[in-house]
Amino acid sequence: MRVTKDKLKNLIQTKLEQAGLTEEHAGVVADVLVFADAKGIHSHGAMRVEYYAERIAKNGITHNPEFRLEKTGPSSAIYHADNGSGHVACKFAMEEAIQMAKENGVAVVGVKKMSHSGALSYFTEMAAREDLVGFAVCQSDPMVVPFGGAEPYYGTNPLAFAAPGNDGKMISFDMATTVQAWGKILHARSKNEEIPDTWAVDEHGEATTDPHKVKALLPISGPKGYGLGMMIDVLSGVLLGLPFGKKVSSMYHDLSEGRDLGQLHIVINPNAFTSVQTFKDNITQTMQDLNAVKPAKGFDQVYYPGQNYEATEKDYEENGIEIVDDIYDYLVSDVVHNDAYDHQDPFAD
Ligand code: NAI
Repeated sequence: MRVTKDKLKNLIQTKLEQAGLTEEHAGVVADVLVFADAKGIHSHGAMRVEYYAERIAKNGITHNPEFRLEKTGPSSAIYHADNGSGHVACKFAMEEAIQMAKENGVAVVGVKKMSHSGALSYFTEMAAREDLVGFAVCQSDPMVVPFGGAEPYYGTNPLAFAAPGNDGKMISFDMATTVQAWGKILHARSKNEEIPDTWAVDEHGEATTDPHKVKALLPISGPKGYGLGMMIDVLSGVLLGLPFGKKVSSMYHDLSEGRDLGQLHIVINPNAFTSVQTFKDNITQTMQDLNAVKPAKGFDQVYYPGQNYEATEKDYEENGIEIVDDIYDYLVSDVVHNDAYDHQDPFAD
């Protein structure tokens, strides 16, 4: 099913408003989700709406939160999110961080007690569009085996980085610290497709290709991905005085409670180190150099991070965004949610 960007955004916004979110917040969440779908990052797009709608309807996401910026120094702040939507809190917190970095050269803003925030590059790209470097990390619920472990401890803990080049272009790198994001497993489930045996393990800790049997995800590159996930949990959880590690709330545990999650934004003004124009020229040079690297057998070219989405973005812009039929049917239906997620096993469908 193909849907225009505007229509998809409208459908999502309407559904989230029906669930109880304010018009403003529903609009921001819809924007973040469509940002992901428009790049083909379907794991963090419309497929999440029913889960959010259920959590909103059950008051596990604060409908009209009291967001508050607490400045803790010239370049540091805590953005208290009152368990509102993470998408909205992180957008507003990034706007504050951008302002602080413009004034002081650097900004570190922790978003404290939020709900799920979606694709992190939405926020880091906000900084890059303002000629700043954006970096973001966040916690997510424990579903990843630490290296050598037989049970989950950390989450898929993603990190994102964006740096501006010339002509509105940027490098935008955004990844979960697992071989694949959990949403990719959900996407495979929704399409009944097999997954590679390097992504996840089953209840016995053994590799599985059946997305329905997944009981834990594998970190990227063994101890290195495990270490990155640890670092992210420290920066977005321990540092902000939030639950960390195995104590991070599960996505499906109790949808009437706030999730108390954390996210950290670091914004750097290139002007504090070099001139913005020199920085942008050299990022553009980096992009060109990468594109000029001789491709290996089986590859047509080397892309810089983020560039790999361009072909999909162009196709979706011209022909509409591709959405799984079941998700579209839900979005156009009168159903707000089907009571499908509350108290589910974290690895439930
Ligand atoms: P991915 O594996 O699809 O992509 C990771 C990175 O690799 C991207 O920056 C992409 O541009 C780059 N890349 C991919 N193919 C490339 C190629 N051929 N050439 C050059 N670069 C290439 O992303 P992943 O790990 O599946 O994450 C998906 C999303 O899930 C992210 O937006 C992440 O922020 C989000 N996420 C959010 C969580 C949350 O709790 N808020 C938790 C986990 C993930």
